[in-house]
Amino acid sequence: MNARLLSTSPFDPSRYVGSVTFISPDAAKINLPHAAGVAPRQYSGYAVLGGQVGEFVFIEGEGVAVLGRITEVRLPDSERLKAEPAAGERPDAHPIGFVQLLTTLELSSGKVISGIPAHPRIGQHVYSAHPLLVKHIVEGADATSEGVVELATIPQDASTKVNVSPAHLFGRHCAVLGATGGGKSWTVARVIQEAARLGGKIILVDPSGEFHTFTDGVRSVFLGGQRRDARDSRTFVSFPYWDLTEADLFAIFQPSPGAQVPKMREAIRSLKLNYVLHGDGEPHVYTKRDASKRDFNLRVNSNEGLVEAKGAKYRIKYLGKQIYEECVFESGGTRNEPDHSVWGAYDERIRGYCDTLVSKVFSITRSKALECLFHPQDFEPLTEKLDEFLASGDAVLRVSLEHLPFEHNARELLINAVGRHLLGLAREGRFQSMPTVVVLDEAHQFLSKSVGGEDNRVYLDAFGLIAKEGRKYGLTTLLATQRPRDIPEDVLSQMGMFIVHRLINDRDREIVEKACGNLDASAAAFLPTLGQGEAILVGVDFPMPTPIKVTEPLFPPKSEGPSYAKFWRKRPVDVSQVESDLPRHRNLHDAYAELLGLDAEEVGSLVDVEPFARDGSRGEMLYSYILDFTGLASPEVEAKIRAKHGSLSVEVGAHFFDGLRL
Ligand SMILES: Nc1ncnc2c1ncn2[C@@H]1O[C@H](COP(=O)(O)OP(=O)(O)OP(=O)(O)O)[C@@H](O)[C@H]1O
Ligand SMILES: [Mg+2]
Repeated sequence: MNARLLSTSPFDPSRYVGSVTFISPDAAKINLPHAAGVAPRQYSGYAVLGGQVGEFVFIEGEGVAVLGRITEVRLPDSERLKAEPAAGERPDAHPIGFVQLLTTLELSSGKVISGIPAHPRIGQHVYSAHPLLVKHIVEGADATSEGVVELATIPQDASTKVNVSPAHLFGRHCAVLGATGGGKSWTVARVIQEAARLGGKIILVDPSGEFHTFTDGVRSVFLGGQRRDARDSRTFVSFPYWDLTEADLFAIFQPSPGAQVPKMREAIRSLKLNYVLHGDGEPHVYTKRDASKRDFNLRVNSNEGLVEAKGAKYRIKYLGKQIYEECVFESGGTRNEPDHSVWGAYDERIRGYCDTLVSKVFSITRSKALECLFHPQDFEPLTEKLDEFLASGDAVLRVSLEHLPFEHNARELLINAVGRHLLGLAREGRFQSMPTVVVLDEAHQFLSKSVGGEDNRVYLDAFGLIAKEGRKYGLTTLLATQRPRDIPEDVLSQMGMFIVHRLINDRDREIVEKACGNLDASAAAFLPTLGQGEAILVGVDFPMPTPIKVTEPLFPPKSEGPSYAKFWRKRPVDVSQVESDLPRHRNLHDAYAELLGLDAEEVGSLVDVEPFARDGSRGEMLYSYILDFTGLASPEVEAKIRAKHGSLSVEVGAHFFDGLRL
């Protein structure tokens, strides 16, 4: 760390807060004569708290100042009652503060020394730390270098900025953690906007489309969904199915392990061979019935390179048909004189086993929402857009998934595949000269978990791999998640920087403590009480965990607190449909009256029913709401509801509350 002169003395008498009465290797107790005063003081325009939990203090030493943080303030038991107000008098109490010792500042050089080489002694004086000195310690050499990310300010003093160098922030991957509503997305937006200002390169995966507000130097593409009409100028891109692995496809189509898995595998291979032989022309399927096995094998062998190549093309439109074509007897001829050189006739029994798979293939490949995957010819490929972006002067490529459905694990598999593609580019050295950061908000959806049924599990490992090996290729990640416990330890351990927002869950806190190294229990104790936008900044190169208030991004993401609105927005909503279907002026009363077949005045307190959201096992997709009116209605009204719905428990669609005036 560079030596820099200090902007002010750490031992300014007007910032005196007390003296040391007890010292242990990592903590100290101090007298805090001013802490029982009700209001903090001001000096030279900066607040002097004088003994408040969370406050930074300097303890005098020889040639050094030891920085600590007050973690507890209390009155000795005998003085408890002195805290009670006595008219007009200042309390004559003697509070004691507990201080966690953090790091040491060398006065002559302004250098920050890790640890506490020389401990303070009893009786030494303690001073409230000046915000500028806290900033000095946190930033180290960063503040002197050009082009820093203006990330945050010090919570007690909005005018003292905390700047971080891009190398510190992105160089070893960064994790933004925190409970829902803590401010992760805003922090992500701040970081991206700063990176863009500094001319960085960011690929932003935007799961819910909330980052659409920032447009300067940003290219936006949509994976999933399609243009509404000719005037719609958004760019919809594809990620072609032939770039998925076989395991990905199995996780989507879920073939059963008996007959369906081998038939589907063979069918894909046959289609790939067929494509090599005939391209888009006829025949579209490879007929195996009565065909020579030798011919087939010869063709496969002589085209092996093309058929087995990564991303080998084929036409999934004919997959169902080809699966049927695979359902033939192993040999031709007759029962008494089998001919093993050819396949036999269609095996209706196996075809029967494959029926469910074929109909699944048929419906999923024709799903409108998945056209970006199964009809790539109608869109521009994401991979091309990526290349264009990397060659361009733009700072951010935003890949919005707002229209991509949760069904069939498409979101997870596609993003994982995009991650795999990026890792491939990285290994080719494409980011060597232009370090690039992939930003993944809501990373727990896409990271290190498996998707698919029991028999067709796919482990989403692409971003874990980027975290592990991307750095040496110039590709790093910024992962934002509300579920740190879902990120495997070996991925978390690769992170060089943590921005930890409010965290309530104990297990999450433990995991973060473990992963952050220098975030000890006393600093972690502040996590549950952080406000929106407040965070603790912990870095491997940082001298200590630092509380910060993230500066509001110029263009905040459009996100509200946890509410219905949030869930509704997160669903892949066909907006045009919702808008045209539902009159905007309806209120909840009218909607319930219509739903239950009641007159408006009969609805009464029924509007108080608590809707129960059915959101599937993963809680990420909202299917419907259950409204249980038991006990809320008069017997006559109950009878009416029963007459219409057969029960007092009524299920309504996920769109039911959209556009209502609540
Ligand atoms: N730096 C900030 N300054 C001021 N307000 C903030 C800041 N960060 C967040 N907020 C407030 O907190 C709200 C929630 O923030 P945000 O959407 O970033 O939370 P989140 O952690 O991403 O939540 P989720 O897990 O639900 O996505 C914002 O709508 C905003 O009002
Ligand atoms: Mg968010």
